[in-house]
Amino acid sequence: MTSPRPRGTLLILNGPNLNLLGTREPGIYGTASLADVERLTTAAAEAAGFDATCLQSNHEGVLLDAIHAARGTAAGIIINAGAYTHTSVALRDALAAVELPAVEVHISNVHLREEFRHHSYLSAVCTAVIVGAGIHGYELAVNFFDKTLA
Ligand code: DQA
Repeated sequence: MTSPRPRGTLLILNGPNLNLLGTREPGIYGTASLADVERLTTAAAEAAGFDATCLQSNHEGVLLDAIHAARGTAAGIIINAGAYTHTSVALRDALAAVELPAVEVHISNVHLREEFRHHSYLSAVCTAVIVGAGIHGYELAVNFFDKTLA
């Protein structure tokens, strides 16, 4: 058993349809799988002295429960809520409630896409937002925590 890393845990949350990464609209989302993303993000987190907990769910309530559980146990949250970004007041309220620093990530540049993707319910309660950097966005989010957390 390895001992916990000194800077605490980053919760890396992926929402609906992101389990299909690698096969889903590769022209938009690329060819890396969710497992690739989680491996790269975990490696970046561990290199910076954080542990990483990765969770993907297609169910809003599961994502809500994970955010609630992060209160008091995680140092920060990296969240790509997928389509829930554009619909979920509940996820917004959960992020606001737990008062943890959170980085919103989108693989694609949502602002270059359909109008309905331009609005995020989450951005106003996140510390930072990273869009359009492809899967590098997750590592950029880790880097942000590396630079801003104790
Ligand atoms: C996404 C963008 C969302 O609009 C979309 O519903 C997704 C993925 C992205 O990572 O670019 O599922 O969050």
